[in-house]
Amino acid sequence: MDHLMLVDSVTSVPKDCEPQLAPAGGVLLEISAAAACNELLKAALADGVAIAVLSGYRTGEYQRLLWNKSVHDYMSEGLSFDEAERLTGRYLASPCHSEHETGLACDFTTWGCTDTRDDLASTPEGIWLCRNAARFGFILRYPRMKEHITGIAYEPWHYRYVGLPHSRVIRERGLTLEEYLHYREERSPCAFSAENDALKK
Ligand code: DAL
Ligand code: ZN
Repeated sequence: MDHLMLVDSVTSVPKDCEPQLAPAGGVLLEISAAAACNELLKAALADGVAIAVLSGYRTGEYQRLLWNKSVHDYMSEGLSFDEAERLTGRYLASPCHSEHETGLACDFTTWGCTDTRDDLASTPEGIWLCRNAARFGFILRYPRMKEHITGIAYEPWHYRYVGLPHSRVIRERGLTLEEYLHYREERSPCAFSAENDALKK
């Protein structure tokens, strides 16, 4: 599995993507992401922070169900189909375009909470994640003010496993995955690796 795989509104989940799954925090994640997530949850707990995992791997069918339900709910409020799809797409990837279908994404919340929290970043759990997730290979995938790049509104709960050292570089430089992949393309492998080494010091 390519842990840097780009999945967004333009690039769909590859047809042959069949992640090997393992349990983490009560959900299933791609096997490396699951191991990293379990380490993350353990480290948070050791710091007195109980983080819960709300959502991990989703099948394409389940993503379609979520999408259709959201569009239906908006239309029940009187919105047109186009407007309902537009608003749904701000926080939900369309079927075959969600990172959750790769097993590399997980949604975190606070212990005992059964939904995502818009205010997660100001809770002890969210603050801990912001500071520490990159140590375990995870990045905040849809940061504030980057909707024009990621195509998705700010989601303080959605973390994506990219592995080390990528997560650290992305975090240090305040990049999105799209920007990081572009940045790697622009630089020679040699210059890139020297820059990464410098960042680690
Ligand atoms: N909420 C994210 C964008 C997803 O549905 O994959
Ligand atoms: Zn998510």
